[in-house]
Amino acid sequence: MTQEQIRQALNSVPDPNNGKGIVDTGCVGQIIIEDSNVSVELLLPSLDVPYKMPLIQSVESAIADLDSGLTTHVHFTVDQRPESVDSPLPQVKNIIAVASGKGGVGKSTVSVNLALGLQALGAKVGILDADIYGPSMPKMLGLEGQKPPVRQLHGQHKIVPLNAYNMPVMSVGFIVEPEQAVVLRGPRLAGILRQFIEDCLWPELDFLIIDLPPGTGDVQLTLVQTVPVTGAVLVTTPQDVAVADAIKAMNMFKLSNIDVPILGVVENMSWFTPKELPNNKYHIFGKGGGRKLALMSETMLLGNVPLVQSVVDGGDEGKPAFLTEPIIQKAFDEIARNTARQTAIRNELLAATTPVKVSR
Ligand SMILES: Nc1ncnc2c1ncn2[C@@H]1O[C@H](COP(=O)(O)OP(=O)(O)O)[C@@H](O)[C@H]1O
Ligand SMILES: [Mg+2]
Repeated sequence: MTQEQIRQALNSVPDPNNGKGIVDTGCVGQIIIEDSNVSVELLLPSLDVPYKMPLIQSVESAIADLDSGLTTHVHFTVDQRPESVDSPLPQVKNIIAVASGKGGVGKSTVSVNLALGLQALGAKVGILDADIYGPSMPKMLGLEGQKPPVRQLHGQHKIVPLNAYNMPVMSVGFIVEPEQAVVLRGPRLAGILRQFIEDCLWPELDFLIIDLPPGTGDVQLTLVQTVPVTGAVLVTTPQDVAVADAIKAMNMFKLSNIDVPILGVVENMSWFTPKELPNNKYHIFGKGGGRKLALMSETMLLGNVPLVQSVVDGGDEGKPAFLTEPIIQKAFDEIARNTARQTAIRNELLAATTPVKVSR
């Protein structure tokens, strides 16, 4: 009897965590054969996993099937291998970056209403406003002038996100005055953003929506270096110039050393619908930009958002239009469903994103 034969036999035993053979998943450690005694070391995430006894039985019978004259001794060791991806936010299932090529296309509007749309589907959602140059969450969510409290936890200072519409929210705008923000240099910005992620008490979330600054710069880079971003949602208007800029943002996520999958495209301001003529559509910014970008990024158009007055009013009053305007509710219900589906598909097909490692 050789070790190789034993290993082969043991691989017929499924790993209770994922159903793959226990040799393939690295669950089998040392094997020692002495006469008719076989000693097998199994590596477990902890010593009190509920499947310990059934696993012993499966291992014993796999070896007995090979040669009934063998006696099997199983012993357990706690698996010291690091988790495949180190995330400073292990309690957050999906981190979604909302990005655009230029400002003013509705990135923040999409971030907020997408977050509320996902929440309406039953998900736990948080918002991180990382737009250093124009943090708009304080105003859009009615949190202006408020400061997130700081709590001491195990001797460390932790920031507690504010709450809006049952969502934890952090914004650069809570911490830095707008006129200060524009003069901050890259490393300082990176430090603030890192604190929002590492020193903040984020609860368990299904989605953390990150409102990025427009374009491709330090903040985007810091983000992908700090957290494993599950995917990016690109926002554009139907205009060709907006699409041209959004392509640059798309290309940044696609760089081989960043490699954040694009989940899809939201086309904002697709058409204008006046309040008194709710069935009319005026394509004032042209047509087709969102679909074009979706095609180029090899993803889908998650949905179209019409240009309606209540979005502007809602943004100014701190009450997002998703909560008051049926047209916007309908648009973001679809966008949220598509985003959730695209996220699920992405998680099924691709490995978790690894934060980019940079040497400084
Ligand atoms: N679908 C829309 N209908 C009407 N106004 C909109 C719409 N989307 C955005 N706006 C308005 O356009 C302005 C810019 O939107 P914002 O979300 O702040 O863009 P960004 O974050 O990309 O700079 C805001 O005043 C916002 O209220
Ligand atoms: Mg914005």
